[in-house]
Amino acid sequence: MTPARIAHVGIAVRSIDALLPFYRDVLGLPGVPLDDSDGARIAGLAAGDSLIELLEPADAASPIATFLDKRGPGIHHICFTVDDLDAALARCRQSGLTLIDEIPRIGAEGKRIAFLHPKSTGGILVELSEI
Ligand code: CO
Repeated sequence: MTPARIAHVGIAVRSIDALLPFYRDVLGLPGVPLDDSDGARIAGLAAGDSLIELLEPADAASPIATFLDKRGPGIHHICFTVDDLDAALARCRQSGLTLIDEIPRIGAEGKRIAFLHPKSTGGILVELSEI
């Protein structure tokens, strides 16, 4: 099995515009266009082989809006790339982890993804994404 790699870190923000100067101008990260997903506007920024994704609520009922209300701005999830998502989810089930997405769906980058419940992963919402 190829070791998983960090694909992106999703950061919940109230305003993409307020944070872009830090990531783009101070850190010099180039922008990567990404589609909206799960009721969030997403600004992608390339940090080496990984992305920073700034997630801003597009509507008040979105999961990101709920996260911001409960926990405030900060790291929302970490996404790992795996070679074979179905095999990775099978390993998760064998290990007794709780899946949020029992069936993979299509994420912001157009790839098959599934989320694992943070109660199974030390309090971090983990996204698995297929290459
Ligand atoms: Co993500």
